[in-house]
Amino acid sequence: MLSFLKKQEKGWVGIDIGSSSVKMVTLSRRGEAMQLDSYAIMPLPSSAVIDSSIQDVGQVSQAIETGLKVCGGGLTTSVTAVPSSAVILKTIQLSSAFTEFELEEQVKLEADRFIPYPLNEVALDFEILGAVEGHDELNNIMLVACRRDDVELREDAINGAGLKCEVVDVDRFSTERVYPLLQEPGFNEDSLIGLVDIGASTLTLNVFKNGEIVYNREQAFGGNDLSNAIHQQTGMSASEAEQQLRAGELSDDLVQNLVLPFRSTVSQQVSRALQFFYSSGPHNELSKLYLLGGTASIDGLAEQMAAEVGVATEVGNPFIRMVINPKLNPQRLTLDAPTLVKACGMALRSFDH
Ligand SMILES: Nc1ncnc2c1ncn2[C@@H]1O[C@H](COP(=O)(O)OP(=O)(O)OP(=O)(O)O)[C@@H](O)[C@H]1O
Ligand SMILES: [Mg+2]
Repeated sequence: MLSFLKKQEKGWVGIDIGSSSVKMVTLSRRGEAMQLDSYAIMPLPSSAVIDSSIQDVGQVSQAIETGLKVCGGGLTTSVTAVPSSAVILKTIQLSSAFTEFELEEQVKLEADRFIPYPLNEVALDFEILGAVEGHDELNNIMLVACRRDDVELREDAINGAGLKCEVVDVDRFSTERVYPLLQEPGFNEDSLIGLVDIGASTLTLNVFKNGEIVYNREQAFGGNDLSNAIHQQTGMSASEAEQQLRAGELSDDLVQNLVLPFRSTVSQQVSRALQFFYSSGPHNELSKLYLLGGTASIDGLAEQMAAEVGVATEVGNPFIRMVINPKLNPQRLTLDAPTLVKACGMALRSFDH
């Protein structure tokens, strides 16, 4: 059937709650074709989210509520994710003869053994991955556990903006979901590909092989260092500095004296992150690196990084092969795309059920 005759399916709002801003993405799907309907990037006060943990639910709700005016389109349902660093993932093997109820009880017993908090403070979930090879009587079960607060504060912030939170996913899974969209069709799945997200306060390196994350590491580094330096030199507030960076409105002088040296620091930090990866085991060289997060938008960063680390580097854009709502500004979208990758991965979860 021709795709325009297929029913358009609206997704949920994907909401990435970062330390400097909330990113929201809405997608719809018609047949195989995915469309970016809208997005919003809403700044947060610096005290609202610290180290990926929500400190002020009201401020986050307010940012989401304002973002909805730009990109809600009447949607009432959303999906978000907890950071991978807050989650314990573990695969266990249990009898395939268990009923759903028995399985839940067994999962709780197993979880109690390896989770370092009281179970009543833990949000616990599991997924049956399938039978253990050669042992049909056993199933591989993936346990997902994190502190209840990490889930509930996110749900509270979203509910406070008048939205229902349909799914709280794990960062790792939404990154795996969005990963194929960053790639050229027909790329070599076997090769090692790095995704570096450089946000305001955290740098995360995920290394992929065959569509799955095989290595993940976070380090405390991000664009805050640059906005603080601008604040110190000029007196403008850090949030004003961020706004000027995003809008490309900083004076040439500040670009020369602060942004360019910071660009070199970013390259060095990524190089360091890669060294940690290479020293973690006998790995082949990465064949490509994608830059994500707000700091990836620094002009010329990909070129400098490629020279520094010797790996082909590109700024990530998950929307290149999507239909784009004609109301969106294509130049602005190209600049914003690396910041929206996580929110896009979350929004893709809408079509997975
Ligand atoms: N064009 C640009 N040049 C330099 N820095 C930029 C630019 N655009 C955004 N940034 C910086 O990117 C950072 C915000 O990125 P992002 O939205 O990915 O962070 P976040 O998700 O809120 O933070 P985190 O993931 O660390 O919690 C800010 O520090 C901002 O100053
Ligand atoms: Mg982020």
